[in-house]
Amino acid sequence: MNEIEAKIKTLRKEVEQHNYNYYVLSAPTISDYVFDERLKELQILENAHPEYADPYSPTQRVGSDLSKEFEQVTHTYPMLSLGNTYSEDEVREFYNRTMRLLNEPFELVAELKYDGTSISLIYEHGRLTHAITRGDGTRGDDVTSNVKTIRSIPLILMGEHYPDAFEIRGEILLPWAEFDRLNKEREEQEEPLFANPRNAAAGTLKQQNAAIVSSRKLDAYLYYLLGDNLPADTHYDNLQIARTWGFKIPDVIRRCCTLDDVFSYLAYWDVERKNLPVATDGVVLKVNSLLQQRNLGFTAKSPRWAIAYKFQAEKAVTRLDFVTFQVGRTGAVTPVANLDPVVLSGTTIKRASLHNADIIEGLDLHIGDYVYVEKGGEIIPKITGVDTEVRTMLMGDKVRFITQCPECGAFLVRPAGESAHYCPNESGCPPQIKGRIEHFVSRKAMDIHIGPETVEDLYNAGYIKNIADLYTLNLPDLLRLERWADKSARNLMDSLEESKTVPFERVLFALGIRYVGETVAKRLAYAFLNIEQLQQASLESLMQVNEIGERIARSVLDYFAHEDNTTIVKRLARYGLQMRVDQTILSDRSDTLNGLSIVVSGTFTKHSRDEYKAMIEQHGGKCSSSVSGKTNYILAGDHIGPAKLEKATKLGVKIINEDEFLNILEE
Ligand code: IVH
Repeated sequence: MNEIEAKIKTLRKEVEQHNYNYYVLSAPTISDYVFDERLKELQILENAHPEYADPYSPTQRVGSDLSKEFEQVTHTYPMLSLGNTYSEDEVREFYNRTMRLLNEPFELVAELKYDGTSISLIYEHGRLTHAITRGDGTRGDDVTSNVKTIRSIPLILMGEHYPDAFEIRGEILLPWAEFDRLNKEREEQEEPLFANPRNAAAGTLKQQNAAIVSSRKLDAYLYYLLGDNLPADTHYDNLQIARTWGFKIPDVIRRCCTLDDVFSYLAYWDVERKNLPVATDGVVLKVNSLLQQRNLGFTAKSPRWAIAYKFQAEKAVTRLDFVTFQVGRTGAVTPVANLDPVVLSGTTIKRASLHNADIIEGLDLHIGDYVYVEKGGEIIPKITGVDTEVRTMLMGDKVRFITQCPECGAFLVRPAGESAHYCPNESGCPPQIKGRIEHFVSRKAMDIHIGPETVEDLYNAGYIKNIADLYTLNLPDLLRLERWADKSARNLMDSLEESKTVPFERVLFALGIRYVGETVAKRLAYAFLNIEQLQQASLESLMQVNEIGERIARSVLDYFAHEDNTTIVKRLARYGLQMRVDQTILSDRSDTLNGLSIVVSGTFTKHSRDEYKAMIEQHGGKCSSSVSGKTNYILAGDHIGPAKLEKATKLGVKIINEDEFLNILEE
């Protein structure tokens, strides 16, 4: 082994050890900054010496942008579910039945039931070879490349005493903090929110882009070892041993010798689980001895040696006062229950979403009803039932879904197969118009510096009725408005002018075509190159674009089939917005900047700031707005802020100018 190869191997070991300390033990021994330095050093060495590439290197955990259909794999051992119960009596029955069937003393292991998405990890000769989702229990999706991005899952095991081949199962989870961060980001981008961390984890795992998975910071807790040559003959001991191989095995699992032990575990965790970083929805009880497990066997659906006790979701009863209907940017109408205030898990609830007409119908809801409000893993409380006993005497009107839009009076439509009602008056319904304008000006779209109140003012003043009208605004008109000073008016004019350099893919995103988010907009832009070709695209040619399915394709067709929309697009082009992909960006896409985080700051002469940002992304790099220990380069133009410069110098981040940057790309 030569010196370089040896250095690479040592660095890999070192980085993985720090990953383990940080993500499994939650006890880092070095600073994030030093860690990033090591990882960077390794990445640079690997880039320079592709002959020593290794899919198990920690650098592979950043994931690749290459999308890949998931392969279906048959599970060696089917992934069964567990019998569920909400009652302590049934736990007692489970215990007594087990005693009867075994007819000998036994031990139970109590552990938390993690509320994520289950995964089966297969290790061969100490290396992670496959990660398979549950699927239908018999066959699942091979999501190995996504799972490899989860830092707490070992790619290579520690120690030596693991079986040559085994499976370990567990739950992939999105910690609460990450879930909140992700939803906040989605809210900003007007993408639909995840209802709970479970959906978010499952959705993330099915992402086609491992780089996105990597950025979401999933975690994995493991709870079940399977194989022919397991190290011990009890479940509990196997898990303790698996911990020494580097797995994150929860340390809150307990052996219980009596039913009292079990009940005190249930009582303790029903309360204490609220302080955990991840979602849990119950306790799983398993017979500890593997021999006894085998003797008990399985029913068709689940093992006889285990049961899941589910915690009751927190519930309150309150009065339904009235129902309002909200119209969103897309025209979707959401019914909202307005309630007598009631306290639930420490927060006062006054409103709850009723989701759609079917839910209202299913509940047979009447005004004045006393309703059950629950807050499970969901962020928005929901109404789960009606106390019909109280109702008999003072029944109010039945709640009916409205037929006309509360904002513009248009008759609502309900597309076949959908549960939502929509207001079809896209170009005349105020919340839809204002919503589209807010989306258009948002940071990730055209980045025009105005907030929702300003949009409201300009709309009310009659200055803007659609996104194109923004470009007809002028200083004298603005100054005639209340609260507008010379400075703010000029700022708006400047930022409108600047928005004319925003690249085509972002313009496309800004149009607000349903289902066309940032990523889809990019794909469409690069596939069709300009607005004319996109406008003329057929259903088939749209669906040929990677990851564009029929739903998106139809939505694009629909958009351009409306004359209101094509008129707006024509006007935007006339005002000078970018309607074609910049050739300099297109000419060479590569992964030269893979894994590098770059901050672009200042003003440039050869390309605009936005063009540089696009180039970075085209070449596999990541743009970030603030300098941190994770930044690899600052691409600095003129007038870069002194604070940024100082921070960069302090952190030792390399500063490059535009020529140096373009040179890197050339190489
Ligand atoms: S044991 C054959 N232990 O709950 C038994 N499952 O309905 C294998 N789960 O599919 C599962 N925490 O996704 C087990 N500590 C735990 C668990 C757990 C969560 C999930 C798992 C399983 C489902 C059972």
